Amino acid sequence: MKNSDLCKKAIDAMQYSYCPYSNYSVGAALLCKSGRVYTGCNIENSAFSPTVCAERTAFFKAISEGEKDFIKIAIAGKKQGDKLLDDSISPCGVCRQVMREFCSPDFEIIIAKSNGDCSVYKLSELLPVSFGSDNIK
Ligand code: THU
Repeated sequence: MKNSDLCKKAIDAMQYSYCPYSNYSVGAALLCKSGRVYTGCNIENSAFSPTVCAERTAFFKAISEGEKDFIKIAIAGKKQGDKLLDDSISPCGVCRQVMREFCSPDFEIIIAKSNGDCSVYKLSELLPVSFGSDNIK
């Protein structure tokens, strides 16, 4: 699947964001080796810490349905009411660590841009020195 098509799905998923506290909507679209795409949105909570990001929503949907192999994820975000996407969105540290658990270092993270373009990073670039299951073997 083309990055631009995955970005469209991430942008589409933003509509389901539940973000009454930050008013910041995020959508994610995760492509699995099976060919299936799992989308996610951020889901906030009045107690704040139960809030879950769009990326983790997508991962946990996929994992809970038996997916184990992931190719790439697209992410889109913007402040509610803004017309343009937030070009500088980047996955939070907790989501990077979840990716570290289930993805290879060359897993691609695609950021949807307001001009219709996208930026592509590898997980190893966004989490270069990391802790993983090997550390506790
Ligand atoms: N958020 C995400 O869903 N993904 C990111 O990559 C960054 C932040 C959410 C969490 C919270 O609901 C809102 O954006 C503001 O932090």
